[in-house]
Parts: sequence; C-alpha cells; structure tokens
Amino acid sequence: MRKIIIDTDPGQDDAVAILLALASPELDVLGITCTAGNVELELTIVNACKICELADRPETLVFGGEAKPILRPLVTAKHVHGKTGLDGTDLPYPKMRISKDHAVDFIIDALLASKNKEITLCALGPLTNIAVAMTKEPKIKSKIDRIILMGGGFFEGGNITPAAEFNIFVDPEAASIVINSGVKIVMMPLDVTHKVLATKSFIEEVSSMGTNVGNGVAGLLNFFGRYDSKKYGSDGAPLHDPNVIAFLLEPDYYSGKEINVDIELKSDLTLGMTVADWWEITDKPKNVYFVRNVNAGLVLEMLITRLRTLP
Ligand code: BDR
Ligand code: CA
Repeated sequence: MRKIIIDTDPGQDDAVAILLALASPELDVLGITCTAGNVELELTIVNACKICELADRPETLVFGGEAKPILRPLVTAKHVHGKTGLDGTDLPYPKMRISKDHAVDFIIDALLASKNKEITLCALGPLTNIAVAMTKEPKIKSKIDRIILMGGGFFEGGNITPAAEFNIFVDPEAASIVINSGVKIVMMPLDVTHKVLATKSFIEEVSSMGTNVGNGVAGLLNFFGRYDSKKYGSDGAPLHDPNVIAFLLEPDYYSGKEINVDIELKSDLTLGMTVADWWEITDKPKNVYFVRNVNAGLVLEMLITRLRTLP
C-alpha cells in the first residue's frame, strides 16, 4: 500500500479527491492536513472532517495547519466554492475528533519516522504547510517519495488572474520553496485539469449511485459547476484536484515531461505565474514533471467505479 498525506483546502473538488483516495485500497491515507485556501482554515478543517464522515471513515486523522500564506494576506475562492467552501450539499456538522498536533508537525514527524521514499505528499491547495514543514525541518526533503500537486497553468493561462492559477497565487513563496526544494515534483496544472469536466451526464451517473456519497458528491458538483460552466462556457466544471490522486493510481492515463518551472514572485501583473520552460529554451535544472495531457474519459470512469464502492 502506498502511504500518502493529503494536504488540502476543501473545496468541492478537494472533496472528490479525498473520497477517491479513501475509496482506493492501494492507498493508505496517513492523514489529511488542512490549509487555508478556498476558505479560511477553520472551515477547511471542518470540511475535511465532513468528507471523512460522508465516507464513513471518521477514524481518519485530520490536522489543522497554517491559517495564512507565508508572506501575504489570504485570498480565498468563495466566489467559486461558496461561503462554506463546500456549498451544494448540507453535510452534518462532524462529530469526529480533530487531531491535536499541528499539520506541519504531523508532516515532519510522519516523514522522519518513515523509511526513505515511503510517503507521497498529495497537495490539493496552496503549498504553505509543506513549505513551512520543509523550512522547519529540511531533513524531511530526502524522505519524501515525491509531491504530486495540483497547481499552475501555462498554455491555459490562469484562473484567479490572467497569469496565475489559484493555489500558486495564494502562496507563491511557498510554491517557490516547494518546487525548488530538490524533491521530485509532479505538477498537475490547469492545462490538464481543464480537460477533466464534471459534465451533466457524469453528475447524473454519480447521483444514480443512490448512496450517501453519490448524493453528496452530486450536490457538491452541481453547485461547483454553476460558476465555472458560465465562466468557461463548458459542460461542467473542471475536476482539478482528483487528478492528483488519479495520477498516483494510474500514471499511464497522463503524459507530460520533465522541465524547469519557476514561479513569478515580484511582478504585480503576473504574480504567481508558473513560468514553464516547456520548449527547453533555458538550461535551468529540470525540477518538475509537468503534466500536459490526460485521457479524461478513463479518469471519469475510474471516479465512478471507485466512488461506487463508498457507502
Ligand atoms: C485549485 O484551486 C481551488 O479552487 C481548487 O480546489 C483547486 O485546488 C484550482 O485552481
Ligand atoms: Ca483545492
């Protein structure tokens, strides 16, 4: 079983990613570490617990982490995710207990106690927790198998500014620390996630499962779709974060290449832009496996098959 830590800011698409991981017997979810992002930290923690309880997995360890980006004030995405971050389905207030440790300490302790390359970090939100953990205890870097992160966009542009994708824009300094850390990075940018859409027929299939998870996810995705379908003129919203887990499970569904990616930290106009040297114009070190394409049909099929196994 592959051991993973999910760092997240749920978010409807984070919710689907977490459910996919919990539904996958190949994965051992050691913990879910929450960060501020789509909504404030207090809400992302509650949302992570709601999702675990929806999947009937209240024993899952959930940790609260950083409430603010390293240097900047928090920017949220309530215009997309609603004021709770998980609008669309009224999930009960969770009863499960939240772990007492700070998310950063959990990440450090779990990695230090692990065998080399035993733990994969799956990052679904701004990278604050992971960057702070690396800065506090640099020894963890050599322990990490790799970090698969949803973030960035190059050919597709940005979604929070014309140049920047939300997760990177919220904490660009953290993103820069992480992608220049020397740890193996897989970047799942908008270039890929904009191809994996929660279409009406996909949501209907989810809803027809007739389970708590099916009904819950259908409600979340119906809400999530309303903003993005209008914005992009597409049949449904991009299922960004589930691609991180899907890549871990079926890397052959995706293609990309090792390139240099750097983060813009200075310009007001392009702050948080992921400058991807796709054409290898510079000889800067290749620090990222930048995913460019996906077989979206297979990813959606995997989601249906696996979510169906949940209660
Ligand atoms: C990313 O930003 C968030 O709104 C989503 O959950 C996803 O992680 C997409 O830009
Ligand atoms: Ca997210």
